[in-house]
Amino acid sequence: MRFAYADPPYPGRARKYYGKEPTYAGEVDHADLVASLEASAYDGWAISTAADALRQVLPLCPERARVCSWVKPVGACPRTFGIHNTWEPLIVVGGRKLRGGVRDWLSAQPARFGGTLPGRKPIAFCAWLFDLLGMLPGDELVDLFPGTGMVSRAWRAASLRHRGYGSPTPSADASQEYSDDVSPTPRGDAFARAPDDGRVRAAEVFR
Ligand SMILES: C[S@@+](CC[C@H](N)C(=O)[O-])C[C@H]1O[C@@H](n2cnc3c(N)ncnc32)[C@H](O)[C@@H]1O
Repeated sequence: MRFAYADPPYPGRARKYYGKEPTYAGEVDHADLVASLEASAYDGWAISTAADALRQVLPLCPERARVCSWVKPVGACPRTFGIHNTWEPLIVVGGRKLRGGVRDWLSAQPARFGGTLPGRKPIAFCAWLFDLLGMLPGDELVDLFPGTGMVSRAWRAASLRHRGYGSPTPSADASQEYSDDVSPTPRGDAFARAPDDGRVRAAEVFR
């Protein structure tokens, strides 16, 4: 099956964060992007955006879209006033529905390794994304805004490790980041058990 992940510059932030990147091409037209995701007949797709852009991006998505939440367990800056944003929406459309539910939220730190590109995703996020889409080894992942390439590398690593090809990881740093962020998972948590159904369960693979 074919899946896609879109991690464009969030609305209104393209120039500020990516103006000097070779891939910068101005603001991304989110209406066009969502339309092309739908038209491409992916078996499932997901798009990251900012909390303050949700009111703009969600109405572009089909009714079956689910809003999942990546929460960053960081403190609010004492110099700011009022509500301080520490989460990002991940909108998920379709995907393979496998037995063994996947939480619609993730608590994980922002990426600390893997370069300096703003908005690059940590490996814990990648693992959660794959689980939300119900991806299995052999599935294709189209990473539309690759940036550092971490999301694609994580998918290749998850597939290979699941198939027993040693234990490739996207990078030693990324593995360290993953174990710092999400371990230990409480034992006995039904959501953390790896079902014996051939499923990648990326969150298990990287543990
Ligand atoms: C949020 S980052 C992607 C991060 C990536 N998922 C990762 O984990 O490394 C967005 C990427 O889109 C690129 N970009 C900026 N403007 C763009 C445009 N108009 N079209 C395509 N790509 C663009 C940026 O340079 C950056 O590499």
